[in-house]
Amino acid sequence: MKLQGLFLVAIICLSYTQLVKGQPSTNCSTTTCGKVTLEYPFGTSFSHDPDCYRSEDPSFKLTCDKEKLLFDDLEVVHVNYNASQLRVLIPVSYVCFNSQGHISSESNLIGRLGNLTLSKNNMLTAVGCDMVAYLSTAGSRRRTSVGCVSICDDPLPQVTDRQCNGVGCCQSPVPAWSNIFIVSRNRLRYTSVRSSTSPCIYAFLVENGTFKVSGVESVTNLQNTRFPVLLDWSIRGETCEQVGGIKKCGANSECSNSTDNTGYVCKCLQGFYGNPYLREEGCKDIDECTHPIHKHNCPEFSTCENIPGSFLCNCKSGYDLDTTTNICIPKDSPEYYTKWTQTVLGTTIGFLAILLVVSCVQQRMKHRKDAKLRQQFFEQNGGGMLMQRLSGAGPSNVDVKIFTEEGMKEATNGYDDSRILGQGGQGTVYKGILPDNSIVAIKKARLGDNSQVEQFINEVLVLSQINHRNVVKLLGCCLETEVPLLVYEFITSGTLFDHLHGSMFDSSFTWEHRLRIAVEVAGTLAYLHSSASIPIIHRDVKTNILLDENLTAKVADFGASRLIPMDKEQLTTMVQGTLGYLDPEYYNTGLLNEKSDVYSFGVVLMELISGQKALCFERPQYSKHLVSYFASATKENRLHEVIDGQVMNEDNEREIQEAARVAVECTRLTGEERPKMKEVAAVLEGLIATKTKHQWSDQYPEPMEFEHLLGVEILSAQDETSSTGYDSIKNVARLDIEAGR
Ligand SMILES: *[C@@H]1O[C@H](CO)[C@@H](O)[C@H](O)[C@H]1NC(C)=O
Ligand SMILES: *[C@@H]1O[C@H](CO)[C@@H](O)[C@H](O)[C@H]1NC(C)=O
Ligand SMILES: *[C@@H]1O[C@H](CO)[C@@H](O)[C@H](O)[C@H]1NC(C)=O
Ligand SMILES: *[C@@H]1O[C@H](CO)[C@@H](O)[C@H](O)[C@H]1NC(C)=O
Ligand SMILES: *[C@@H]1O[C@H](CO)[C@@H](O)[C@H](O)[C@H]1NC(C)=O
Ligand SMILES: *[C@@H]1O[C@H](CO)[C@@H](O)[C@H](O)[C@H]1NC(C)=O
Repeated sequence: MKLQGLFLVAIICLSYTQLVKGQPSTNCSTTTCGKVTLEYPFGTSFSHDPDCYRSEDPSFKLTCDKEKLLFDDLEVVHVNYNASQLRVLIPVSYVCFNSQGHISSESNLIGRLGNLTLSKNNMLTAVGCDMVAYLSTAGSRRRTSVGCVSICDDPLPQVTDRQCNGVGCCQSPVPAWSNIFIVSRNRLRYTSVRSSTSPCIYAFLVENGTFKVSGVESVTNLQNTRFPVLLDWSIRGETCEQVGGIKKCGANSECSNSTDNTGYVCKCLQGFYGNPYLREEGCKDIDECTHPIHKHNCPEFSTCENIPGSFLCNCKSGYDLDTTTNICIPKDSPEYYTKWTQTVLGTTIGFLAILLVVSCVQQRMKHRKDAKLRQQFFEQNGGGMLMQRLSGAGPSNVDVKIFTEEGMKEATNGYDDSRILGQGGQGTVYKGILPDNSIVAIKKARLGDNSQVEQFINEVLVLSQINHRNVVKLLGCCLETEVPLLVYEFITSGTLFDHLHGSMFDSSFTWEHRLRIAVEVAGTLAYLHSSASIPIIHRDVKTNILLDENLTAKVADFGASRLIPMDKEQLTTMVQGTLGYLDPEYYNTGLLNEKSDVYSFGVVLMELISGQKALCFERPQYSKHLVSYFASATKENRLHEVIDGQVMNEDNEREIQEAARVAVECTRLTGEERPKMKEVAAVLEGLIATKTKHQWSDQYPEPMEFEHLLGVEILSAQDETSSTGYDSIKNVARLDIEAGR
């Protein structure tokens, strides 16, 4: 059978008239021919409305003849608009031989496809023994030939579902873009005639994958068989871009240049189906939830929800989607919680990471700012001056350590409340642990007065030089804080106050202990007043006498102490000290000298003897103030009333009485009448050493009672009249007592 008729296409071409067509109208009725439905760009000879098909290209005008759709004389069995392909049935090219080996019948195949081309998705196929099949094509670009050879072993093997691999059958891909082709076949001359099994040899084109060799029988009578072949079509003469702005393809579709760039094709977008060339209608959404081929892959326990172009899987209630495995898992299953925790964990870690970075940056900025501030404080607190003094020609035995702010913070665990040892009028004392594990007491003074920086530095230098076994050693200081910090040796066993009246009250705190402590304190004060390189007035001798584990006295808290310049006997300062221990003369005049300390010591000695507090508002009026109570008791020979019954026995009665006399001497109203600290120390030491009586009373006359009373009177008057002054002083007293330091 010859396909010369295809030449008709060319003839029809001549009658083609160029018309500027609009879009396929929605009013176009779809044409059906047999089982095939035609839509734009295809039409049939019955399509009268030229808008309803691509009338400018005769290739799109098909013929419907007796329920058969024809492209020229090739039967069209399917139109794929999405792939822009026609499936047509094409006959085979064959030769049959008679028993003499002569040709009995034959048919050649010539195809002319006009504006359509052979699809790449076809195969040139040869069936027969000892033959060669070939395809010659011509297209818009080039001419090519392909072929394949099929040889048969003798006898021909029984083929069952085998591939066309060159034994009795061979296949070869075809070149694309050819619109003219010739399929032919020839016997290989040198082979003998095989009349028995296969008198014919066949060559034909067939859609890739649709031809199967199954048994010898099926491949022996192909003369009248037609095989499906795919033809490509495209809208010629235009590219996607040529008509600017006008969308050539319908809804939900895309335009792409045809592979030979002579036109364009339209394709449905992913998830859509239909005819993309229908410009108004376009492609329709595939309902994946119900579609048998484009089926959804929703996991078990989920419902499918169709959305344009795609679908959603929603887990049924009680289930949750695991996004990594795409499985619906019950909400109460362990996997769910694992997943959930992982998600939460992941999010949290991410969040924390961001937070970390931010806080790092902030920390850095803060660090820089802090460093600047620390430097500023250091200068403000006389750091420069101290460094200069330390490096310069100062005293050589100075051993002041300069601590950093950071070190202090670390040592006190960030000034933690649990580290507070005491809080008093002079500030707060923290327990600190230095990097070498040594324990220190860190004192944070109250807000200082910047005008006294020089004096402060002087004090630090002098106090650090004091190396006395009964003085709490100043180890160093930190000047990088707003208020300078002083670092002292740490004393374990609390204050004298604690032992006498407070938390560490101990009935075995004997007279011997007390006398030794008195001697130690007296000796220390005497040393400070006279022996130290510059005389120092403690100014606040009171219960801030610390005791170590052996109950050795350690005088502490020089916060209020003042150095006396060598050339001045007396200083006028703001009255500072603790009520009850405060020298009334100093209180009244503001004139400070070392006799103020003598007075305070006297009060402490009275406390040691009596076991009572210096000032106790709970006691009856006449004994409220220990000093006056003591003085009157001594004078009226009622000393036994005030002596702590716990310490008195026959052996020490004399000592106690002597000590009481010393105490009364120390608390005389005017400083001049009081003995010097050195003398007091000597007398008390004498009590321990020889228990001999000193001629104390010969040197100092008995104190006049009214003088003491006068002192108290003045104090009381002040207390009652000046409420602010009273409050502030009382506050100091209370704080110091609470702090125990
Ligand atoms: C389609 O047909 C209707 C009536 O049948 C007409 O009103 C409408 O204009 C037509 N649309 C087109 C695009 O021809
Ligand atoms: C091929 O398409 C072009 C443009 O549409 C047309 O002008 C031509 O006539 C067509 N050729 C044939 C053989 O149909
Ligand atoms: C033919 O189909 C097979 C299987 O689908 C494929 O591997 C092969 O590449 C196809 N050949 C051509 C020329 O398209
Ligand atoms: C289609 O072809 C035209 C002309 O060759 C070119 O300008 C255009 O970029 C191509 N478009 C696409 C989508 O390939
Ligand atoms: C339409 O064609 C495109 C490209 O050839 C393909 O990816 C898509 O799956 C096709 N759509 C349908 C519904 O066959
Ligand atoms: C306490 O006394 C003991 C024994 O005399 C001595 O070893 C120890 O070092 C003393 N403790 C202090 C803190 O002085």
